[in-house]
Amino acid sequence: AQGVNVGLLGLGTVGSGVIRIINNHQQELQHQTGCSISVSKVLVKDKYKQRDLDTSQMTLTEDAADVLNDEKTDVVIEVMGGITEARDYILQALERKKHVVTANKDLMALHGKELLEQAEANGCCLFYEASVAGGIPVIRGITEGLASDRITQIMGIVNGTTNYILTKMVQEERDYEEVLAEAQELGFAESDPTSDVEGLDAARKIAILARLGFSMNVELDDVELKGITNVTTDDMDYCSQLGYTLKLVGLAKRTEERVELTVQPMLLPNDHPLAAVQNEYNAVYVHGEAVGETMFYGPGAGSMPTATSIVSDLVATVKNIRLGTGSGSASKPLHTKAIQANEE
Ligand code: NDP
Ligand code: HSE
Repeated sequence: AQGVNVGLLGLGTVGSGVIRIINNHQQELQHQTGCSISVSKVLVKDKYKQRDLDTSQMTLTEDAADVLNDEKTDVVIEVMGGITEARDYILQALERKKHVVTANKDLMALHGKELLEQAEANGCCLFYEASVAGGIPVIRGITEGLASDRITQIMGIVNGTTNYILTKMVQEERDYEEVLAEAQELGFAESDPTSDVEGLDAARKIAILARLGFSMNVELDDVELKGITNVTTDDMDYCSQLGYTLKLVGLAKRTEERVELTVQPMLLPNDHPLAAVQNEYNAVYVHGEAVGETMFYGPGAGSMPTATSIVSDLVATVKNIRLGTGSGSASKPLHTKAIQANEE
């Protein structure tokens, strides 16, 4: 089988999951792509750090150039997080005609347009399914599954950390701070969890989904946001007594005149389907004019679910590489249409 070489930027919660899936699902990956996939070089901050993973088959490096300048690297997977360096490395990878997969919503919400344009200019794929709702294929659901429809509303729980906190505060009557620390330990939270609890992470995801769903050039600043930092166990008890569940809900709504984008704590009747979404799970309702209401549900954070989306993007990339060499057209990047359509 043809070999595909992956360079990995980051070997933390998500990066380790990516290695595990590539190693454990070789047969499935080969069946899907006709290629044998391997990871040779991995960028980390500290190459001497103790890791709960066998790294004997790969070279760990603290110098991004080792990954980006390697002529053997076909696809770069960015799972290091942050904005400035990650943007720079992705741009370098694309300039060198390497396809890119990323889980970085901070980056895609702020610089998605630029990166997708660069990908297209270089004839590369840039996929980012894992950037929204971890293991749920909601980006593909919207951009491919519902491509024929006119989407009017997207509503859902798109942050696993805050949903985990709110669930445990109600069900186990535990304090906010204690459960946040647990969510960090479990790898759900961002390295700085402020973006989770203040609603920014959910806002980034809603901006990405609205951009794709409404084919509009939505900016992060367009999202009005409020987090859960002031919610107390007493508030949660009170809501329960009244028959409501408090959830951090993101909403993107399109009317003839305007688009409304919000992230805020919302009181949902206990029998509302979103009220039943627990722990780090996410759920996204997408309303289309023709299809009506659809719901995407599943684990919204964590190592293996998120890595599933990443490696599925890798599979899509490898399929594009293979088709592209045959037809010269299918290797065009996907997901650029939505942004460009708005500019025409
Ligand atoms: P971690 O903090 O667990 O891992 C980050 C990795 O990147 C580490 O291996 C770290 O090296 C490396 N790294 C970070 N900064 C640098 C740098 N400047 N130079 C070199 N290496 C660096 O993060 P996660 O795996 O949790 O998240 C990664 C990305 O995935 C983020 O964009 C996040 O938003 C996104 N994401 C995360 C999800 C989750 O559930 N955790 C879900 C969906 C998306 P070292 O190991 O040496 O410290
Ligand atoms: N910190 C994010 C969350 C990771 O809790 O949802 C998944 O994007």
